[in-house]
Formats: sequence, C-alpha cells, structure tokens
Amino acid sequence: MAAEDRKTFELFVPGRVCLFGEHSDWAGGHRRTNSALEPGLVILCGTNQGMYARCRACDGELVVRSTLTDGTVRETYRQPMQLETLQAEARRGHFYSYAAGVAAYMLDFYGVGGVEIDNYRTTLPVKKGLSSSAAFCVLVARAFNRAYSLGLTTRADIEAAYQGEIATPSRCGRMDQGCAYGQIPVMMSFDGDRIGVTPLRAGGHFYLLVADLCGKKDTVRILGDLNAAFPFAKSARDAAVQQCLGAENRRIVLRARELIERGEAAALGALMSEAQAVFDAHLMPVCDELRSPRLHAALADPRVTEWVYGGKGVGSQGDGCVQFICKGASERVALAAYLRQTYGMPCFELDIRRPVSIRKAVIPVAGLGTRMFPYTKAVPKTLLPVVTCQGVAKPVIQLVVEEAVSAGAEEVALVIQPEDEARFRDFFMGGVRPDTFIKLPPALQEEATALAELGKRLTFIPQTEPRGFGHAVLLAERWVGGEPFLLLLGDHLYRSAEARSVARQVAERFQESGDSLSVVGIYQEELSRIRHYGTVSGEWAAEDTLQLQRIVEKPAEEEARDFLRVSRHGKEVYFCVNGVYALRPSIFPLLQAGARSSDGGEIQLTAALEALRQAEGVLGLVVSGRHFDTGQPLLYAETVARFSQP
Ligand code: UTP
Repeated sequence: MAAEDRKTFELFVPGRVCLFGEHSDWAGGHRRTNSALEPGLVILCGTNQGMYARCRACDGELVVRSTLTDGTVRETYRQPMQLETLQAEARRGHFYSYAAGVAAYMLDFYGVGGVEIDNYRTTLPVKKGLSSSAAFCVLVARAFNRAYSLGLTTRADIEAAYQGEIATPSRCGRMDQGCAYGQIPVMMSFDGDRIGVTPLRAGGHFYLLVADLCGKKDTVRILGDLNAAFPFAKSARDAAVQQCLGAENRRIVLRARELIERGEAAALGALMSEAQAVFDAHLMPVCDELRSPRLHAALADPRVTEWVYGGKGVGSQGDGCVQFICKGASERVALAAYLRQTYGMPCFELDIRRPVSIRKAVIPVAGLGTRMFPYTKAVPKTLLPVVTCQGVAKPVIQLVVEEAVSAGAEEVALVIQPEDEARFRDFFMGGVRPDTFIKLPPALQEEATALAELGKRLTFIPQTEPRGFGHAVLLAERWVGGEPFLLLLGDHLYRSAEARSVARQVAERFQESGDSLSVVGIYQEELSRIRHYGTVSGEWAAEDTLQLQRIVEKPAEEEARDFLRVSRHGKEVYFCVNGVYALRPSIFPLLQAGARSSDGGEIQLTAALEALRQAEGVLGLVVSGRHFDTGQPLLYAETVARFSQP
C-alpha cells in the first residue's frame, strides 16, 4: 500500500442518551409476529463526551489500544486479520471482543486489510446506559471505513457496529449505534427488522444534565417483565404496556421532535415530565424495578424543580440515570452542584445546539496590494509566508481559509484577480509530487493531506477590475445564493483567546440572534489609529455585544471623539472592525445600490453595512482574541515576528 494511503486520521465518536421512547425499539421489533402493534420510535442524542482515536491503515493486523475514562491505558491488542480467528475472538467476550467482532464483519463484507486504532482518550462514563460499547464499535467500523476509503454511509457504519457487537456474547439494542450521527438529535423508528433514521435539526439550544442516580437497576428483569406483554396482550395490563410503548409513545416522540426542531426548551422539559408520568402509570404496575425510588425523589425534589423545565429517567429506566432539561447554563451548573452535594450524584452535561447556520465563506483577495508594492508586483500578498505556533510555514491565504473552516464554513469562495487563479489552484489543489511527499516528515505529510482537503472546499470567482472590497463581495452574490455567509478579509489573521476561533465566535453570535442580525467582529483600538480602520459605536446589548448605531470608514480623530466614543467598564473607548463579518444576504441589494451610485468607481462595504444597520440592525461582537494585519509592510513585519508565538 502506498505511503499516502497510510496517513493517520483522527476520529471522535460520542456516546448517546435516549431522550424519548425507551423500550419502544424492541417493542417495535415484535411487529415481526404481530403487525397490529405500533412501530417503535425513539429520539436520542450524541453526548458531549465520547471516544477519541488516532487511526491508520496497516498490513494484515488489527491493532487496538484503549484508554479508559479514568486514564488507564489497556494493553495493546493485536490479532491477524483472519476471519475465523476474529470471529472466535469476538465470541470469547473479553475487553477487545467488540473490536474483533467489527473487524470480522468488515473483513467479511468489504475485504479490508489491517488497521491501527489508538483510542488515546475517553471521556464517556461507562456502564451508565450511554452505549459506550456501541460507541467503541462505531469507532472501529469508521476506522476501517476511513482507512480504506470505503465511502460507507453513516447507516452502513451503524450496521457494521451492530453486527460486530452481536457477534460477541454481549446483547445490545438496535438504537445504541445512533451515536454514529455525532452530537445531534436523531429520531429512529423500529418496524420489525426495519430501522429508519432521521437526523433532526435543533431549532435552539437545550441545556441537558444527566445525573447518575447511584442506585441499582436490574435491566434483565425490567426487559423480562415488559416483554411478557408482547407480542399478543393476554390481559388489560398487557394492553396498557402495549399502549404505552405504542400509540402513547408515538404521540410523545412526534411532539418531542416538533419541540426540538422549534427550539422550545420549556415545552420539551414539560413533555419529559409528562412522558415519565405516562411511563409510570402504565409500566410501573408490571415491574417493581420501575418504582425507582431514587429517580422519583430527584424528579420531585422542590429545589431541583426550580432549575429545570422537566426531566425523566434514562435508558431502561429504574434507578440508573436521570436527565433534566435545565432553564439555562447557570441553572445547570447550580443543579449539578446541588445533586452532587445532596445526593452524591455525579453529573455530566449534554448540549443540543442549533447547527451552525453559516455554511459558506467569501474571502476577497483580488486587491491591488499597493501598500505592499513592489512585492505585490512579484507575487500576490496573500501568498506571503507566516510561521504558525506549531512551527509550520504557511501562506497567509491558507490561514485565512482555515479560519473560515474553523467557523463551520463548508464551502469557501476566493474572489481573485483572474491571472492569479492558476497559482492559487496549484497551491490548494495541485497535490504534492510523490518524491517530495516521501521526503516530508510525518507531521508535514499530514499538513499536505489537510491542504488537499481545504482545496476541495474552494471556488474561485474572478474580479476583472479592482473596484473595491464591496465590489468583490458583490461578485460572490450568485455563489452565496441567498444564504447567510461569513466574510473575511484576505490579509488578516486571527488568534483566539478561547477554544472557539475568532471567526467561530462571530458565526455563533450570528446564530444566537436567530440569524436575524448581521454581526461584525470588533476590537478596542487607540484613538490615534482609528483613522486607518472601519470604526463603530453603539449601545451595549450584552456584556460583549454592541447594537451598532454608527459605522464609519476611516474616521478623522475629531469626528471619532464627537460621535464614536463608547463607554466600557467606566472608560471612554473606541471600537474598530476586525475583518470578520457574519452577514445576512440582504447586504447584496445594498451593495447593488452602492454600485449604481458609484458611477463605475470603487464600491465600499462599509457604506452598505451602514445601510444594512439602518434597515435591520447590525451587532458588533467584541471578540476574544487578537488579529494580525499582513497588508502593510511594517504591520506584516510585526505579524511575522509575533504570530509564531503562542
Ligand atoms: P484592502 O483595502 O486591503 O486593499 O482590501 P488591497 O488592494 O488589498 O491593498 P492596498 O490598499 O492596495 O494596499 C481588503 C480586502 O479586499 C480585497 C483585498 O484583496 C483584501 O483582501 N479586495 C480589495 C478585492 O478583492 N478587490 C478589490 O477591488 C479591493
């Protein structure tokens, strides 16, 4: 196998929590014999916690090393990729049997070679009904899928993980592998042997807390007692169980789906409490294990109810885990502290977030670069080198594209001078000559791979006349296609002071406004320097967010002193735009209007942004981090000196 095919790649697979519909998965399976039953329907969600691994293809062997949640590293497991051996290993039921079971399936169905999986970190609590075994099986299936470029869908990963797990003595449900969809809510249906999967798009942020009740539950007994009511009801009690896991469950799950998609946390919390009441009324009478005193004590605790919209049991129920929908982030922190102190219950957080709504980014790089003349006579200024904190030399444009991708952009358009296209295309898409690739150290080989991945997201839009930043943005109108988009200057770099990149902070602020208000990244600047930059003023809408009242391009000091002062923490200060914008597509008609009145001259973004502010409002987010200019000689020199320092 060629060296390129053996690149190391990272995987993360979360666990999953069943939010609604527990037990209806196997109940729906009984439709094999009784078609009068309702299909099962559940909603589950990938957890914030999960398993992290570095993987790569290797010759003829399955090599796995696991790290447990407490940091213990298990001895490395090695087996030849031989079907009978792997199947026998799966049946033995030891720690690595899941890996052997999935590897056997992948070998049998796809004829794969070996794989090395270093599960170097696990943050998922085990044996808490979060399907850590299913997460591990999905991890192994996906490692083969990626290492051999099989192009399998998530559904196929799920199937491989399921078949691998049931090749071991352990028994798992059919919904456990739903974690393969990642940290998003998923609705699954169960009709006999058929499974349907629908990923859901959350319409808001839900703050969940899952607490370990530290009680005991006998899952085998719960399953035994409930299964006795299937496939045909023999008594009124059986009929009540079927009703609860059938029609009632369907009603509740479909309502939950609606509330998740609408982002209604309060109503979803109330629905959780209702689901628990329905569960208790119908199922508790047939199974003592479901009396769950610890679960009910926690749900009924008056202190708890102050912080939550509602809650219910998790998994097979009993005294395993409880889940709550909290009123907000701070309420969740308070609840977790209370449950720990009062009941000794360890907790973990689970977030259901609205997916980032910005999918596209525009980066204009077609400017003349007069301030960097004569260098720009030789090469476009965005191809100037900068060294990262990791000691890697990259051209400015690569770092800007990486910033856009870090904010969630799946596609990126570079507005370029037509004569530069070949050069950009060659850099991002031209690959690396095999003889060069072989000589690169592994870290730079990975850089080469990452660069090729970036290249797949790029589109080039030519700007034939340098008619300004606003004109370059306008040229991207058709490509943007009526969606909100991220706009980045082509010659600015960013270093965030938090885990989220600077562009991501702006994109998420935009999203928090429900996509209703465009957002510009801003930073505090000295009065003596603001004549070089777009400057804003406004009223504080939140600790870090200004509702903008003015946007002025390169104001004179006097004008700024009179109109652009903002008071912050008791001081009078000034804020400038940092070159990151999350914009609604309504900016385009305003740029068009600017184009009509420009008489063939330059079209500036700032004028259109000020018009946008007047029409629908614009927010300024004080980002947490710094920016670096590379478009002016002395600032570029400063950037080169400082950017490589963490
Ligand atoms: P600048 O204002 O920095 O202009 O553009 P410039 O041409 O790059 O540099 P100077 O002022 O001549 O030295 C801001 C961003 O908009 C792009 C630039 O490439 C830069 O990324 N731009 C500017 C265009 O794409 N087209 C234009 O007509 C003007």
